[in-house]
Amino acid sequence: MDHPPLIVLIGPMGAGKSSIGRQLARQLGCDFVDSDRELEHRTGVDIPVIFEIEGEDGFRRREKAMIEELSESGGRVLATGGGAILDPDTRRILRHRGVVVYLQTSIEEQLRRTRRDRNRPLLQTGDPETRLRQLMAEREHLYRETAHVVVDTGAGGVPQLAKEIIQALEAWKAEHDGS
Ligand code: S3P
Repeated sequence: MDHPPLIVLIGPMGAGKSSIGRQLARQLGCDFVDSDRELEHRTGVDIPVIFEIEGEDGFRRREKAMIEELSESGGRVLATGGGAILDPDTRRILRHRGVVVYLQTSIEEQLRRTRRDRNRPLLQTGDPETRLRQLMAEREHLYRETAHVVVDTGAGGVPQLAKEIIQALEAWKAEHDGS
């Protein structure tokens, strides 16, 4: 793509937003930023500590402000947390400022990728599968309504998936420019 716009990755935990996003930015020759990692960097604590001290509501407020700030500049790939799209202002801002890619994946794949993870407070339960299914039932329509492009990350390695995203973005752009 000539002048990479702001590319936003949305999708559930374990969709591959960070690993694919980093690779995508490398292939496009632009910056990569991850809103959760940036939040941890700024606050000096990790996500579970924010949840512990300020609750999920406190985390969501910080997440919203972080994404609002990070989406101000174009020419970068921005990975968001799985619940970022719960906020209507965030959904509007992301769609307006960027090209939003929903990384779709199966519950089985999410479980495989988040197994043994201790950095995701919402999955610290005896039954992460049920939790992931609940979250998907609540959020899937929001991922779809926020996205310009949907890419399935179930099969293929990270470099290949990044290539598929670039192709999907080019197809979207061609269609969009023609309209
Ligand atoms: C969350 C997803 C996490 C992180 C936080 C809450 C969610 O990000 O923002 O633990 O609500 O789905 P990842 O999607 O990068 O794991």
